[in-house]
Amino acid sequence: MNYKIAVLPGDGIGPEVTDQAIRVLQSIATRFGHSFELETALVGGIAIDQTGSALPTQTLEIAKKSDSILFGAVGGPKWDDPAAKTRPEAGLLALRKSLQLFANLRPVTAHPDLIGASPIRQNLISGVDLIVVRELTGGLYFANPKKRWSTTRGRRAVDSLKYTEQEIRRVLQVGYELARSRRKKLTSVDKANVLESSRLWREIAEEVALENPDIQTEHILVDACAMHLIQRPKDFDVIVTENMFGDILTDEASVLAGSMGMLPSASLGTRKLRKKGAQLFGLYEPIHGSAPDIAGKNLANPLAAISSLSMMFKLSLGLDEEAEAIDKAIDTTLSKGYRTVDIFSQGNGNIRVNTSEMTDQIIERIANPNKNRVPKPL
Ligand code: IPM
Ligand code: MN
Repeated sequence: MNYKIAVLPGDGIGPEVTDQAIRVLQSIATRFGHSFELETALVGGIAIDQTGSALPTQTLEIAKKSDSILFGAVGGPKWDDPAAKTRPEAGLLALRKSLQLFANLRPVTAHPDLIGASPIRQNLISGVDLIVVRELTGGLYFANPKKRWSTTRGRRAVDSLKYTEQEIRRVLQVGYELARSRRKKLTSVDKANVLESSRLWREIAEEVALENPDIQTEHILVDACAMHLIQRPKDFDVIVTENMFGDILTDEASVLAGSMGMLPSASLGTRKLRKKGAQLFGLYEPIHGSAPDIAGKNLANPLAAISSLSMMFKLSLGLDEEAEAIDKAIDTTLSKGYRTVDIFSQGNGNIRVNTSEMTDQIIERIANPNKNRVPKPL
């Protein structure tokens, strides 16, 4: 089968981790006999520099014509001027909004060999397996009024948190479907003790819960959730929450996985692939962002980008076996002790590798699946 993939590397470490994901994609193509048609396009700061827009029309056209999007990262100090007319992040936000990618899936697992990489006590995190479904096209990020102005008494600014019943309902439904295929537990997170939009969220969450009696539902406030993520992370299965709450909670949750460099994400909507039946169109990106401090140094952890590719295979392209081949290769590579700097610790047999060396290990295991079975040396 021929698949069309839009590649949007963006800024900072975006291009280098995306390059690694593409190397992995090519090794999958070779092993499984697929052909992938890649089309690279500008987004973010580099797009502002070259075209004046963070999401050039041509990029959006390429994205729309593809089966899915592989996204790197956007942003950096070069474009950080608060007075700037347009910011790199606007490119990503416009892409999410115009493609209606309302459900952002962010799985967080603590790999048994990375337990020591987290500053959190081992007994709390071993066995963590949760997924955050972050609402991605509404809430505090998008609603109007959103502006800044000057008054005689000083400068002012406003952002708005708005939701419609439909927006809340559809993202919760994604959460329930996921929970059904997992441990059948869903946590709806809000701030219903203060925010009107959260009271609507909770009301609808209670209604949707009644439609899903086979799933255990709990409602918790976002501040408590931030605490429980550290105190009892194993209790969570599926967490569904507002856009900004989800943004914050997933950075926090990444600490459970040992590093932000480990976490992939999938952004999905209702759009189906044109020719390929029931599969969903999606945007796949690491959650780590552009990390300008280490950009261009071949130091970044490529595993979040590579895992995002695996999610793409599974969720958009229906290539389950290929996704498993990637996951397995990541697993074995970690078990063998290969570590980029963000997950490296001295003195326990870890082998320090750079971005491309980490990918070499993954690719070697995809090309020779037997390597996965070699027993771990004592
Ligand atoms: C993320 C990022 C983005 C967000 C930024 C880059 C706009 O932090 O995907 O989590 O806030 O959604
Ligand atoms: Mn974020």
